[in-house]
Amino acid sequence: MSQDVQLDSVTMRFGAVTAVRNVSLTIRAGEFFSFLGPSGCGKTTILRMISGFMEPTEGAIRIGGRDMRGIGPNKRPTALIFQNLALFPLMTVAENIGFGLEVRGIPSADRKARVRQLLDLVALPETADKKVTELSGGQRQRIAIARALAVEPAVLLLDEPLSALDLKLRQHMRAELRDLQKRTGVTFIYITHDQGEALTMSDRIGVMSRGVLEQVGDGRSIYDHPETSFVASFVGENNRFAGTVADADATRAALDTPYGRLVGRNPRNLRPGDRATLYVRPERVTAGAEAENILESRVTHRDFEGAFINAFLEGDITVQIPHVGAEPPFTPGQPARIAFRADDAVVLPE
Ligand SMILES: Nc1ncnc2c1ncn2[C@@H]1O[C@H](COP(=O)(O)OP(=O)(O)OP(=O)(O)O)[C@@H](O)[C@H]1O
Ligand SMILES: [Mg+2]
Repeated sequence: MSQDVQLDSVTMRFGAVTAVRNVSLTIRAGEFFSFLGPSGCGKTTILRMISGFMEPTEGAIRIGGRDMRGIGPNKRPTALIFQNLALFPLMTVAENIGFGLEVRGIPSADRKARVRQLLDLVALPETADKKVTELSGGQRQRIAIARALAVEPAVLLLDEPLSALDLKLRQHMRAELRDLQKRTGVTFIYITHDQGEALTMSDRIGVMSRGVLEQVGDGRSIYDHPETSFVASFVGENNRFAGTVADADATRAALDTPYGRLVGRNPRNLRPGDRATLYVRPERVTAGAEAENILESRVTHRDFEGAFINAFLEGDITVQIPHVGAEPPFTPGQPARIAFRADDAVVLPE
């Protein structure tokens, strides 16, 4: 019932603007795949092309191996959920969910049975006769999903469906959506600019910047092994040290920076003389002095966050240490020596 979605050198131009640039990617059948990127990077444009509301300027889209060119949105095995759900406010929940089935001429008895099934699936069995306006934001969201699933799409496209909800509900809905996807086995293509959502829900994530697909991988590889400066900066927090490569081999690069020579992994095979930036996560930096990289700075301030403490050092350096009861090592106004391992840092081209 689920199908794969293949993008083959897909480009979308609006006049002089290239919204999506030469994207090639296969989203697997039954996968929870997220596109993650800042506003305007082309996420919605990709969904519109997959759902058939727009044709790519160049390239091909195949769903279940079938070329979608010239096939309209209602002929595709996809359903789209928008950010603003657009449920029908004057209809009951059951009428909303059954709407697509009615349009397709499914008889009333079959429709009723299917609606009941879907309400069970989204865990709202008692709401069939309620008005949409009587539901909470999260309940409406679940009804919108039930309505999209009613027509049995092979691929469900979700465009920032949680962004209108408050934080608590959003976090709760993450788990629900993830669970629903696993139970139905439908391919989910999910759009978000919220990295927490992407990291917690997805089998794989595609990180986008300015129409370009920068990197595709599971959450761990995107977080631990960024391949571009954009991914290193956009996903999670990172300290950055710019400099010039002094020495490099297949695994390591040493960078001359204002803080001295710093060493990190070299996944992009940089060479001596290249301009580059070394990235290291705040939680990989320690107050110790036992690692390949040691540097000196001064503490400007310290924030207590509960489970951890963030210390801010001159040079725009952040250190995150778990709060385990003892007095934390970074005293505001005092010089500090910090250290991190070369394996915990990555050197990437500008
Ligand atoms: N119909 C259109 N006509 C002209 N330009 C468009 C059109 N749709 C999108 N664009 C442009 O294409 C680029 C990508 O837009 P898109 O809506 O895909 O971004 P997005 O990643 O979904 O952003 P957001 O997170 O803000 O929703 C933007 O520069 C936008 O202005
Ligand atoms: Mg959008």
